[in-house]
Amino acid sequence: AKKIIVAIDGHSSTGKSTVAKQLAKALGYIYVDTGAMYRAVSLYAMRAGFIDESHFDTEALENDLSKINLKFEISPKTGLAEVLLNGENIEQEIRTLAVSRHVSKIAAVSSVRRKLVEQQQKMGVDKGIVMDGRDIGTVVFPKAELKLFMTATAKDRAERRFIELSDRGEDVTYEDVLKNVVNRDHIDSTRKDSPLRKAGDAIKIDNSNLTLEEQFDQILQLAKITI
Ligand code: C5P
Repeated sequence: AKKIIVAIDGHSSTGKSTVAKQLAKALGYIYVDTGAMYRAVSLYAMRAGFIDESHFDTEALENDLSKINLKFEISPKTGLAEVLLNGENIEQEIRTLAVSRHVSKIAAVSSVRRKLVEQQQKMGVDKGIVMDGRDIGTVVFPKAELKLFMTATAKDRAERRFIELSDRGEDVTYEDVLKNVVNRDHIDSTRKDSPLRKAGDAIKIDNSNLTLEEQFDQILQLAKITI
């Protein structure tokens, strides 16, 4: 069968990665979580003291970009790709609300985007890939055969993310999570470089009222028609 590129974009916490993983598994494709890459760069910047609540030393981060090496490794436990920051598996650490608070500021820096987009494009040269993020259908793979744009109400998204973080033992409130989701969407949609927007040829999926099964069925059908 013909191999394609599936680009999945959308707002924060819309379940992009859940459906992307399901789809990659069903098709036997590689799944790439580009948000994990921006989160990894954020963790690097936080550890180096380049960013906190009150300051962001963009220049220091830019000077260090060549020292940031990101790789994906397949976890033997889950069979999914996890991101390595200079050889260290940071899968758990990058999912915290602390990282979520800074990541959109990091992702607005053009030199950071250039570096990560280049790496993402290389991963797609052989196709057979499902990639999720904010600019996949618009910038990374403007010629992707199937583009999806996922959205849901902020309330639905914050509820899901709140449950996820609480289950993982993070001490967060629903209000904190809602604020973060809304704030990230705002920064991601209004930044100059590669703002979050639906590509003209992307199919919009509002999953506020869809079960995971319904959503997956819809998307798998779309992929099958495209392949
Ligand atoms: O997908 P996730 O929520 O993990 O992404 C974290 C953040 O990384 C987003 O809020 C956005 O600021 C940034 N991002 C991006 N472009 C991508 C993927 C993520 O700017 N392709």
